[in-house]
Amino acid sequence: MKALLINGGPHKKGCTNLALEYVARGLAEGGVDSEIVWLGNKPLAGCMACGRCREQGRCVFDDVVNELILKAREADGLVIGSPVHYAAPAGQVVSAMHRLFYTGAVDWSGKVGAAVVSCRRGGSATAYDQLNKYFSITGMPIVSSYYWNEIHGNTPEEALQDEEGLATMQQLGLNMAWLIGCIKAGEKDGRPYPGRVHQARTNFIR
Ligand SMILES: Cc1cc2nc3c(=O)[nH]c(=O)nc-3n(C[C@H](O)[C@H](O)[C@H](O)COP(=O)(O)O)c2cc1C
Repeated sequence: MKALLINGGPHKKGCTNLALEYVARGLAEGGVDSEIVWLGNKPLAGCMACGRCREQGRCVFDDVVNELILKAREADGLVIGSPVHYAAPAGQVVSAMHRLFYTGAVDWSGKVGAAVVSCRRGGSATAYDQLNKYFSITGMPIVSSYYWNEIHGNTPEEALQDEEGLATMQQLGLNMAWLIGCIKAGEKDGRPYPGRVHQARTNFIR
């Protein structure tokens, strides 16, 4: 059992990474391995809507997103971590996640997801809501903790003082491990996640 943790912050060892390290602790406590992948601090392109990914199973921009596709396929859980930039997820996170989720190269259904945001002071709720949209459009059960998954601080040293934020993250990891285990147990018991059974696509409503 493995979870993929994405650090979308511009700082490799910043506040978002700290939050994810605590999620990883909780996952380990629950018997789930994890890997933190940093998006880096080079510009990341957004989705060009060229649709080539649907044919090739990878994005035409050959960057970290293509690595994420391969790692996400192997993962049972996904945590998207982002700093809050102007009350939204950081631009590079949005660019990368649009491309990752649009490829159709990963079967997300039955993988569990959680969003984690770090901010100095405000705007966390809107950023958090936006990130959760990736999970709720792809059949991914969303894991929660005992507060919204946010940590406060402008530096990792400050964020380390957010005791409640750190506990929220560790508990999130533990809850995610539990849910992954439940899904696996269900599969063994002949009750796999149903996946997409009912389908319809209408581009307008009349
Ligand atoms: C461009 C930019 C916009 C930001 N906007 C906000 C904001 O809206 N609200 C807030 O509380 N902090 C804001 N911050 C501060 C970061 O969210 C905060 O420092 C965060 O914890 C840094 O995480 P990191 O170390 O992983 O990059 C902003 C920082 C930057 C660089």
